Amino acid sequence: METTFLLNGETVRVADEPATRTLLDWLRERRGLTGTKEGCNEGDCGACTVIVTDADGPRTLNACILFLPQLEGKAVRTVEGIAGPDGGLHPMQEAMVTHHGSQCGFCTPGIIATLACAHSAGKTDYATQLAGNLCRCTGYAPILRAAEAASDAPVPDWMIEPPLPGPVSEAREATTAGAEAGVVQPRSSDALATWYADNPEATLIAGATDVGLWVTKQLRALSPVAYLSGCEDLKTVHTTKDHWQVGAMVTISELLELVCDDYPSLAEMLRRYGSVQVRNAATLGGNIANGSPIGDSPPPLIALGATLHLRHRDKRREIPLEAFFLDYGKQDRAQGEFVEAITIPRGQTGLRVYKLSKRFDQDISAVCGALNLERDGDTIARTRIVFGGMAGIPKRASAAEQALTGAPWTTASFEAAATALSEDFTPLSDMRASAPYRLRTAQNMLHRYMADLDGAATSLAQVRP
Ligand SMILES: Cc1cc2nc3c(=O)[nH]c(=O)nc-3n(C[C@H](O)[C@H](O)[C@H](O)COP(=O)(O)OP(=O)(O)OC[C@H]3O[C@@H](n4cnc5c(N)ncnc54)[C@H](O)[C@@H]3O)c2cc1C
Ligand code: FES
Ligand code: FES
Repeated sequence: METTFLLNGETVRVADEPATRTLLDWLRERRGLTGTKEGCNEGDCGACTVIVTDADGPRTLNACILFLPQLEGKAVRTVEGIAGPDGGLHPMQEAMVTHHGSQCGFCTPGIIATLACAHSAGKTDYATQLAGNLCRCTGYAPILRAAEAASDAPVPDWMIEPPLPGPVSEAREATTAGAEAGVVQPRSSDALATWYADNPEATLIAGATDVGLWVTKQLRALSPVAYLSGCEDLKTVHTTKDHWQVGAMVTISELLELVCDDYPSLAEMLRRYGSVQVRNAATLGGNIANGSPIGDSPPPLIALGATLHLRHRDKRREIPLEAFFLDYGKQDRAQGEFVEAITIPRGQTGLRVYKLSKRFDQDISAVCGALNLERDGDTIARTRIVFGGMAGIPKRASAAEQALTGAPWTTASFEAAATALSEDFTPLSDMRASAPYRLRTAQNMLHRYMADLDGAATSLAQVRP
């Protein structure tokens, strides 16, 4: 499949590459652009960060888990294109020199890409922007000082991308030669539905933050594959007063922006989902369809009573999201059926989401608790409590819910619910947490919820000096 995109301002056409060639490998091995580094090759360290611009503007992505077809019609800027054409430094590069932001320099190209992208996009929350860029030797204080020092400098002309090659062209539809080569990039959910029903054994690739690792770590050869990045209709959100209908290809970054006013607690949890680079790639549909027991979006969405929209050819069905997760590794999804959208109810004031992980940023949850209680005076009228990381699937805590429903808003009620949690779950021990620790922390989340809604400061960000 031929892919056309801008690379540091120049149009490139890539043909004869495997369907799952990563941008990082291609840059380094085919183009000799070795400024973009390989650290972990699994999306964790940010050494391979590049800037990718599309109609929605610039964003950082990890090139190690980004496949070439995902770039169709977009613009890529690597560290080699962040310095000016005459060799002049970008203001962020200048500031990194002045403020001693680099020692061994291995992380520095990725950090420059992150800071230059934040600069172009006018973002100044540098600690958040840099959470996916691991620097092992300099320490972040000089890097943050450099970022702040350069933040008011004008965006250099060369960082403004020429007109983009444009959206995925018709020639990449399922009916073309691309399909014969085992790789397609449909332009709509209709085209995807037809092709996937005819090729149910295919791998769907959305943001590739899971699938990328199947290739880079498990060395799996994937064929046939369908890239969903051309399906513009799967990237839309329909908003009403009561709900959002979110397309499966909406990214976690976009979801975070969408929910932040209605559900600040959910937004704060999503801010700790991977890193900016991971959130810019990962999609809501992928986070649900992968069926992971520790995916961060299912617990809060189940606690809100979200609905999943599935499609097989022209047949659509809607199920409560909680019904999708049947057992570990098993979901209610037929061969050739895909996630089209998720409907998320709005306006529920009781939702709180607590993510427990070993690191504050850029870490998978050991336990993710989502609690959504509705009070009628001093009585708890309705209860939805969901945990990830406590069973083989994201699961409601029905015994704890029963203990709280109709009970008074008292410490004793929450203690009874915490006791009941041991009927709901028999968690596993693994490298993230032991079984007793998981149970205890989940119980503590119930107490935290009560304190939180009673107005106490309960988050690490609030209680630290
Ligand atoms: C460094 C790093 C940090 C991470 N941190 C977190 C974290 O903090 N929290 C968390 O929850 N996850 C985390 N993840 C996991 C990952 O981001 C998610 O699982 C992600 O949401 C998957 O979405 P994707 O679009 O990248 O899916 P892909 O990798 O493209 O696909 C994942 C799976 O879903 C299938 N799929 C994708 N879209 C559809 C669809 N519309 N219909 C049917 N099937 C589909 C694919 O075929 C594949 O089986 C992290 C991953 C990395 C690499
Ligand atoms: S090499 Fe570490 S994130 Fe890509
Ligand atoms: S400068 Fe050495 S890892 Fe950051």
